[in-house]
Amino acid sequence: MAHEVHAHMEVHHEPKSFWTKYIFSQDAKIIGIQYLITAFVMGFIALVLSWLMRLQLGFPGKTFLWLEKLLPNAAQGGVLNQDFYLAAVTMHGTIMIFFFITAAGTGGFANYLIPLQIGARDMAFPFVNMLSYSGTFSRRFVPLCSLRPSSCLAVLRGAVGRCIRPSAARRKP
Ligand code: HEM
Repeated sequence: MAHEVHAHMEVHHEPKSFWTKYIFSQDAKIIGIQYLITAFVMGFIALVLSWLMRLQLGFPGKTFLWLEKLLPNAAQGGVLNQDFYLAAVTMHGTIMIFFFITAAGTGGFANYLIPLQIGARDMAFPFVNMLSYSGTFSRRFVPLCSLRPSSCLAVLRGAVGRCIRPSAARRKP
């Protein structure tokens, strides 16, 4: 009897290809793993931003010529300019909270563990769950544009920057 119930509960996601199995998967476990990987990549980006902040805070007044080579627009003379520094602080905090902690917790662990914990076959709406993850890249890309001081995405950057960063909001468009 127990075996029958178990067999009934089992879902057979039949992956047709690499794309449907790993990229546009509707399986909550795979989606959970996708969110976790994305969260750790974003966490690493935020960590790199914290290194840039630490360089300025740890060695005030010192110039880093390699930094200018790395970020010609943001670190003229080997020192991070004010605008980029503020953008780095804002994006570090935003990424860590929304795209690392929240994404790993609700997107990653919740998708992976909750169906298993409550004995459900999957999330209630697997297709919507998949759509939700698919939108992830655009949701991360748009705020990241605010880090690029002079890009072809200046309009987007201006709009986002002005919403989330007081120093940019004060500036004229
Ligand atoms: C889960 C959330 C967060 C994590 C895991 C995290 C992690 C880190 C790490 C590892 C550093 C480098 C520390 C060092 O240089 O020794 C750092 C630095 C920093 N973080 Fe965060 N952070 C988080 C959230 C935030 C938030 C919300 C803000 C505020 C906007 C923020 C602002 C800063 C600043 C200003 C620094 C540079 C401080 C310094 O190097 O002295 N962080 N963070």
